[in-house]
Amino acid sequence: MMDSVRTAFKGKAALITGGMGFIGSNLAIRLANLGAKVTVLDSMIPDYGGNEFNLAPVKDRVRVNYCDIRDQSALNYLVRGQDYVFHLAGQVSHLMSLSNPFPDIEMNITGTAFLMESLRKYNPSAVCVYTGTRGQYGSSVSLPVNEEAPTNPKGIYEISNLTAEKIIKVYNDVHGVRAVLLRLSNIYGPRSQMMHSHFGVCNWFVRLALDNDTIKVFGDGSILRDFCYVDDTVEAIIKSASTEAAYGEIFNVGSDIPVSFLELVEAIVSVAGSGKWEYADFSAERKAQEPGDFYSDITKIRRIVGWEPTTTLANGLAKTCEYYRKNREYYWSK
Ligand SMILES: NC(=O)c1ccc[n+]([C@@H]2O[C@H](COP(=O)([O-])OP(=O)(O)OC[C@H]3O[C@@H](n4cnc5c(N)ncnc54)[C@H](O)[C@@H]3O)[C@@H](O)[C@H]2O)c1
Repeated sequence: MMDSVRTAFKGKAALITGGMGFIGSNLAIRLANLGAKVTVLDSMIPDYGGNEFNLAPVKDRVRVNYCDIRDQSALNYLVRGQDYVFHLAGQVSHLMSLSNPFPDIEMNITGTAFLMESLRKYNPSAVCVYTGTRGQYGSSVSLPVNEEAPTNPKGIYEISNLTAEKIIKVYNDVHGVRAVLLRLSNIYGPRSQMMHSHFGVCNWFVRLALDNDTIKVFGDGSILRDFCYVDDTVEAIIKSASTEAAYGEIFNVGSDIPVSFLELVEAIVSVAGSGKWEYADFSAERKAQEPGDFYSDITKIRRIVGWEPTTTLANGLAKTCEYYRKNREYYWSK
């Protein structure tokens, strides 16, 4: 599998929308190290996840284009000649999507339609990978959750991700733009925004612990999630991009090892060697949106793509703490 990934990307052109952000920058670094010609598109909207420092290890090897996913003419230009298009740009906060739904709808739904139109017209032979969210399922009907489970999103962000996924699927089925549709669980690791708690809960808890602050655990802390380290997530993205049998398919990307929030915060405090935690009540807004226990069934991606996560929570948290300790100045304020 390693060899097929190497040959799939060496000398190939790859566009990453949202490539200055958390997952996009880790993907850009991995692809550049595999010998791909990487172009990053990012609008760098304040308070979103974009950070120039994220691309520091490859800054001389990656082309950056500062533009918005809603700029059709820029997309028309940027998609040309690309072998792969990884679509990661978007409004990613479900809390923000509830206080103002319009940026989310414009970027995640209309922006996705702009990208797919550019691909249809100017590069229909590129392979596209989209990173949606486990939130598309809403509350779990049974656990673990597989790709056949009903989708009942509990927020505008989750609706916009599901809609974007369906738009891309239409371009795959009707226009022949080959696409892989991923539904990511909770991703953590280096290069996430660490300025506020609007999105990226695990990374935010890491910041609180490193600052020796108190982490608030909502409810009784028993809610289950599957946390997935960003390097594993990047492997899932590139392996599915280079697996023909994956085209047109939806895959969960997560872990089938569930962890409660209590276990998570205890692990973070232990690995960081600082910080503490306490119970707190859900705000009414958070309570209304909380989907309850979730963890992914990853049987399908294991079988078709040959991917599974390999980083334990303790190892992933150790690498995460080490990265932010070393690079705190680039993440704590901007
Ligand atoms: N991090 C997670 O736990 C997680 C979980 C599920 C799904 N996802 C999805 O993965 C993708 C990447 O998420 P992330 O965690 O890296 O987020 P991120 O916020 O760190 O990265 C998103 C990037 O997109 C850019 N961007 C936002 N709006 C844009 C626009 N209009 N035009 C161009 N660029 C724009 C931002 O500047 C940022 O750099 C998103 O689609 C997100 O919904 C992430």
